[in-house]
Amino acid sequence: MYDIIAKKRDGVELSKEEIEFFAKGCTSGEIPDYQVSALLMAIYINGMSDTETFNLTIAMKNSGDVADLTAVEGMTVDKHSTGGVGDKTTMIVVPMAAALGCKMVKMSGRALGHTGGTVDKLESIPGYRSELSKKEIFEITNRIGACMIGHTGNLAPADRKMYGIRDVTATVDSLPLIASSIMSKKLACGSDGILLDVKFGSGALMTDMSDAVSLASEMVKIGKTASKKTIALLTNMDVPLGYAVGNALEVKEAVRVLKGEQKGDLYDICIELTTYLAHISSGLPYAECRRLSAECIDNLTAFEKFKEIISAQGGDTSVIDDTSKLPLARYQYEIKAERSGYIAHMNTQEIGMISMSLGAGRAVKEDKIDYTAGIIISKKTGDFVNVGDTIAILHTNNESKIYEAVMKYNLAVTCSEVKPELQPLIYDVVK
Ligand code: URA
Repeated sequence: MYDIIAKKRDGVELSKEEIEFFAKGCTSGEIPDYQVSALLMAIYINGMSDTETFNLTIAMKNSGDVADLTAVEGMTVDKHSTGGVGDKTTMIVVPMAAALGCKMVKMSGRALGHTGGTVDKLESIPGYRSELSKKEIFEITNRIGACMIGHTGNLAPADRKMYGIRDVTATVDSLPLIASSIMSKKLACGSDGILLDVKFGSGALMTDMSDAVSLASEMVKIGKTASKKTIALLTNMDVPLGYAVGNALEVKEAVRVLKGEQKGDLYDICIELTTYLAHISSGLPYAECRRLSAECIDNLTAFEKFKEIISAQGGDTSVIDDTSKLPLARYQYEIKAERSGYIAHMNTQEIGMISMSLGAGRAVKEDKIDYTAGIIISKKTGDFVNVGDTIAILHTNNESKIYEAVMKYNLAVTCSEVKPELQPLIYDVVK
């Protein structure tokens, strides 16, 4: 390990064998944390070639369980978002893609820090089981087209170990380390095609657009080298996506989009994501896939698919038919605009943190979620507000959190007399 660290420190490319040795030793604990840290810092400073990044991805993928989806009939596709605030696209896109004939075993994570987790959102539906047996996963996916579950098995433990060390050694923000970390887990999920939703902006992993483009390109390269059809979309997370942040609140919004009752940014992104999933899966031209994506909302087949999936996983679909049956927080506090003007910018990460403080998320893994908590955003970047207009409604069962949340929300939202120039919703596609 000493020689490997010295090599990387001096800017020399590491071999496949050296990288495999590192990933194996990391997983088994044979390499002490101080040597893991030293190599990670050398990688952070000197970067990695495409070959090194790919070899690290595969070594981390192979450090744990790799899902075998061959029991699913047809080509399987997967979607991965780099995370954000109000990102409920999985709950919408998975049934849309299934309605178009795609096969998806969608594994998602839980909320941590400012970002939400699809599994928590779905578990706000009474009875919903995010843990299924292998038999159930294959039966549901073959019958309905998709299931939505939590991560199963021991996925990329080398990445878990390295991420824990990166987190406390200032080495998270390294492009090859982020790209290999994300792709090792995606490849371990076992699908044939991968659609990446790489976010940019104040609520994203990559705040800067050009960094997000580089990350997307690196991940697409890794996916293709691993013989997976891979496409990345670069989408805006400088503003929360849609209007709801928080678990049950986001389920309600997802249902509105699936019923064709809500258009706008969230709908547009879901159409684009579904279009590319269908394109990867079927090979049909983009324009045809886009037409089919819009059609499955208009004719409610995606909404019906959503109910089928929820029902197959034990969820109570009566709350989907009538979302007013979903539980509501005891307190709903309206935040009013303190002056007139345009909303010029929203600190999206901070809005995610405020939602977490109201009970919707977790500061640490062990925290309990309040499914009813969160924020309904009434005005977003570019909207004009008059003094006294409601700009957001805080939902919580913990009254003592409201005062601080209001203060913080007012600081997170910047007002201006000048209408701001809006960033694009979908910036680019990397193929
Ligand atoms: N998410 C990951 O899974 N890995 C990283 O390195 C950063 C974000």
